[in-house]
Amino acid sequence: KATKTLEQYQITMRPGTADILAGQPTPILGYDGRFPGPTIHATRGREVQVTQSNQAGRNLVVHLHGGVTEHASDGHPMDIVGAGTQRVYRYANVQRGATLWYHDHSHGEVAQTLYAGLAGFYIVNDPYEDALELPRGEYDVPLMIQDRSFNADGSFRYQLDLDMGFHGDTILVNGAIAPRMKVERRLYRLRLLNASNARVYGLVLGDRRETLQIAADGGLLPRPVKRTLIPLNPAERIDVVVDFRQFGAGTEVILHNPSGEATTQAVMRFDVVKGGAEEAQVPKLLSELETLPPVNAARKFVLSFQSAGTAMWQINGQGYDMNRIDCRPRLGTTELWTFVNNSPHPHPMHLHLAHFLIRSVDGRPPGPADASWKDVVAVQPGSTVVVRPYFDYYTGVFPFHCHTAEHGDNNMMGQMEVE
Ligand code: C2O
Ligand code: CU
Ligand code: CU
Repeated sequence: KATKTLEQYQITMRPGTADILAGQPTPILGYDGRFPGPTIHATRGREVQVTQSNQAGRNLVVHLHGGVTEHASDGHPMDIVGAGTQRVYRYANVQRGATLWYHDHSHGEVAQTLYAGLAGFYIVNDPYEDALELPRGEYDVPLMIQDRSFNADGSFRYQLDLDMGFHGDTILVNGAIAPRMKVERRLYRLRLLNASNARVYGLVLGDRRETLQIAADGGLLPRPVKRTLIPLNPAERIDVVVDFRQFGAGTEVILHNPSGEATTQAVMRFDVVKGGAEEAQVPKLLSELETLPPVNAARKFVLSFQSAGTAMWQINGQGYDMNRIDCRPRLGTTELWTFVNNSPHPHPMHLHLAHFLIRSVDGRPPGPADASWKDVVAVQPGSTVVVRPYFDYYTGVFPFHCHTAEHGDNNMMGQMEVE
């Protein structure tokens, strides 16, 4: 039968300007010269090809974060798209529906390229989800949250902080400072992404109103989980459903970040307008977790800091080496990976390719919001986190690393070869 099996996108990585400050354009480096980049909409089971052409005047690498992607299209730091060249990335979208994002992965330079604007959403829609009647279309809203600072001429100001990673003094949502969004009195799905270099958020809606978390990095949770505080570590995604029927028309509802400094507390605001006598509810059952094959190996990764040398941030006493394989998981198995943080800073640890379940944090099982597929887990100072990755689709070489951009750049990165 004549079904459309392939979708093609053409993106140019190039300099551009963004209208963030009134009347003062901000130079950026963006996908299609935009900040954030264009949102790619994929469908589970249908391949997407993205031709990325590099007109940025520097070497770049495109990584689909959270993507279950074959090695050749993963954006391994070695697979550079040289200035003036292009590369076709093939995404098979074999995974369940989820909120993914694509960003630059030039080793040692991600703190600059991500900061300059190279990030965009990639949403995998899942026909299975359609039956759940979750909010969609204009009621399904991706929100990319980032922090920036500005120079007097309107350009982004960056200051290297190897310890803490960059922290800006202004919060942007989809490239705008404290934007306002008109919402009807009905359900909305908000896809929250922390695309900041290093900042951790704790988001609160209004006067600690309840939101329903429905998805984490890897897709739908088994059941919705009530949240009044939404923690968001670098690179994490959390999808929540907000019921704006609880607010009267004319109400202004602020999404804020109470743990921030004075200037990084306000995130965005929703202006509730009339509308929708809608009856919709979030279903009580959202998804089922796959049955997992048994654990085939256990590994330990000690995260530490060394104040001199080229590899300041280390995994098992070593910095990243593109030519070294740190472990060889077998295709079709699960493993137990223990992260021990022997350093004074948190590390949001991320695996390419393989999603994982969190098994324990300091010996305790995770709460219900963390009891589904993840690709980032924050490991706090002094803490031990055990995760169970599932190597279910592809063989090949893939990195794993701390997603605080300044830590990953400074070599807190390892490499697995799935065999
Ligand atoms: Cu978003 Cu290798 O990471
Ligand atoms: Cu990734
Ligand atoms: Cu780190």
